[in-house]
Amino acid sequence: MTTAPHAAAAALTLPPRSQRAGNAKTSPVRDLLALTERPKVISFAGGLPAPELFDVAGIRAAFDAVLDSPSVLQYSTSEGDARLREEVARRYSADGLPTAASDLIITTGSQQGLGLISTTLLDPGDTILVEEPCYLAALQTFALAGARVIGVPYDGDELDLEALDRLAAEHSPKFFYTVPTFQNPTGRTHGLDARRHIAAIAQRRGFRIIEDEPYRQLRYSGEALPSLAELAPAHVISLGSFSKVIAPGLRIGWIRTTPDIRPAVTIAKQAADLHTSTIDQAAAAHYLLSGRGEPALTRIREAYSARRDAMLDALPTVLPTGSTWNHPDGGMFVWARLPEGMDAAESLGRALAHDVAYVPGVSFYSGTPDRRTLRLSFTTYAPDRIREGLSRLGTTWGTGR
Ligand SMILES: Cc1ncc(COP(=O)(O)O)c(C=O)c1O
Repeated sequence: MTTAPHAAAAALTLPPRSQRAGNAKTSPVRDLLALTERPKVISFAGGLPAPELFDVAGIRAAFDAVLDSPSVLQYSTSEGDARLREEVARRYSADGLPTAASDLIITTGSQQGLGLISTTLLDPGDTILVEEPCYLAALQTFALAGARVIGVPYDGDELDLEALDRLAAEHSPKFFYTVPTFQNPTGRTHGLDARRHIAAIAQRRGFRIIEDEPYRQLRYSGEALPSLAELAPAHVISLGSFSKVIAPGLRIGWIRTTPDIRPAVTIAKQAADLHTSTIDQAAAAHYLLSGRGEPALTRIREAYSARRDAMLDALPTVLPTGSTWNHPDGGMFVWARLPEGMDAAESLGRALAHDVAYVPGVSFYSGTPDRRTLRLSFTTYAPDRIREGLSRLGTTWGTGR
């Protein structure tokens, strides 16, 4: 008797997947987004920019213009498009952080920047510090790199600086990962004093800072703050992105590296994908230089500011008595905490039954989660729809009017 080929294949014992791949969890936000895609659901869960605010005409014109030269369809350098790097460097310098084009490596979104930094700096078992809670896909990237991740807690809305210092002394981390401005998931921003302390602790304890800044330009109130790279230039690697200020589908981000690791990051980039899409980079450069980016960003800021206000105005009548929440000066998210005894993950099922969704905070913790927390994104809908969604949420908790 002959054995069927598939039976023979099933009997084979194949080598297992890597331990790092085994450790990486699928993203609960992704799983949740699948549930919230039902058309009736008003979802405050996803961190999606509003598509009606994309400058489609301007972006189309940029692609048309750059296609005049066939070189935009050719292979290119790993560091990225020269005009784009010049323009991003010019913007950093104008913003108070002197930067040369050669300091920058263009990446396929800042998400790739996180991967390249991990490849460059981390060996399996290395310790790093992150904010607790932290951007979920960063936690995934660090897990895939085999890092030992330790969360630095907050004290209210402020990072616990003593804990940062103590944990740094105890664990000699390779780096501290932070989203200093309008953080994902909490919308929190480190104030000037906190920034100075974070920079000083890194210098004293001898660790790097990875400063991830996709939301920096989405400010609706308050004063701009210096970047950490200004305060500790030799210690800080900054990541940037056009995802939240032009469009995420462009997949254009960058790393502002320190000179000591630049060659290694360039090799990591080359090994990852040779370079970011030539045509996308050329179109992004053309778009920025055409002057259309600023008015489009002003429209985005105005719309998001009104959406933030609509959410903040409604929350007092929606969240159960005893809840707390913050008032971010920008970005995309409000972070809320339900009263003692409530569990935001548990009440999500009831919210979905009322066709409204949010992300339970548990998804964003590297250590023990605070089960009372949740993230609400305010950017996706116009104010009326936000009010409608929040009123449904109020019904979930029996607080709606
Ligand atoms: C803090 C943070 N870093 C990085 C990213 C990834 O952005 P990009 O689209 O540039 O890859 C996001 C996306 O939401 C984010 O919130």
